[in-house]
Amino acid sequence: MLTKKEVILLVKKAREGMKNAYCPRSKFPVGAAVLTKKGNVYQGGNIESVISGLGTCAERSAIDHAIAHGEYVFKVIAVVSKNQQPVKPCGACLQYINEFSQIGGKDVIILMVGSKGKIITSSVKKMLPGGFGPRDFGLKIAKYNK
Ligand code: THU
Repeated sequence: MLTKKEVILLVKKAREGMKNAYCPRSKFPVGAAVLTKKGNVYQGGNIESVISGLGTCAERSAIDHAIAHGEYVFKVIAVVSKNQQPVKPCGACLQYINEFSQIGGKDVIILMVGSKGKIITSSVKKMLPGGFGPRDFGLKIAKYNK
């Protein structure tokens, strides 16, 4: 179960991530934040490059931030932008979220949050049903399930 306090913190951190986004090409800042199994929150923003095609989305940046701290299992990921309508993670990010959902052995809740607070709640299993991941690959996931 996700508490109201957790939602408020995730949205706050995701907005912080959006503030620090580096998006000179698209000028479309996006922020994301993950809540880990250990109860920590890590944020990220999209990072682009003057080299076309090089860069990463906010969702992957937030996940990478958590992994840099040795945390691989996520309960929730929140994503924010300046759009009034909530934005959805792209296909590549859903695949990335699915990777760590399989590591944790649990679905990951996805909160898509609009600029005025509208929230759409879904999950990686709903948005990417049957996605290929580390379990299919035979990876020994126990090492990362923390
Ligand atoms: N973007 C994200 O970071 N997350 C999303 O959910 C949608 C799109 C970024 C990628 C690119 O830097 C910019 O938004 C425009 O597509």
